[in-house]
Amino acid sequence: MNNQNDIIISKSERQTVATGKKFAETILPGEVIGLKGNLGSGKTQFVKGVGEYFSVQDVINSPTFLIVNQYRGIDPKSDKEITINHFDLYRLRFKEELETIGFSDYINDKSVCIIEWCELAEEYLSDVFREVIFEFGKTESERIITF
Ligand SMILES: Nc1ncnc2c1ncn2[C@@H]1O[C@H](COP(=O)(O)OP(=O)(O)OP(=O)(O)O)[C@@H](O)[C@H]1O
Ligand SMILES: [Mg+2]
Repeated sequence: MNNQNDIIISKSERQTVATGKKFAETILPGEVIGLKGNLGSGKTQFVKGVGEYFSVQDVINSPTFLIVNQYRGIDPKSDKEITINHFDLYRLRFKEELETIGFSDYINDKSVCIIEWCELAEEYLSDVFREVIFEFGKTESERIITF
């Protein structure tokens, strides 16, 4: 088992986007990535970088009214279409809502799922998934990102 975590100290919003783009090289279709960290810690910026890697043309923002936004992209490894399912569970009122929206259907080999505030529904995210943790650094523009 690999217990060694990679830690990036990001000094800017742009660096966090670039970190997401680099991380995306390791994402396989069907994977579920959980993002943890406080409000404003950089999760959505990271997802923007993931979107850049998959050539997503739409602007990625936090899902505001919906729990999930879907973006169409291209997996550069296969040149095939891939759907980026971007969840934000912050406004989830009941964990059961994930079942209501058919969460498990979002996990398939033509999609990747990236979930902000994944800790709010951990027991529903039973599939093995990777986590990325975001923390505030010493300065206003510093974020510590742990894989
Ligand atoms: N190094 C940095 N990395 C990322 N964002 C930074 C950094 N420095 C400053 N920021 C600012 O912090 C904010 C991060 O916002 P972002 O929406 O990515 O956070 P979030 O973790 O998704 O929050 P929420 O839980 O509200 O969705 C942005 O306003 C961004 O400009
Ligand atoms: Mg966000």
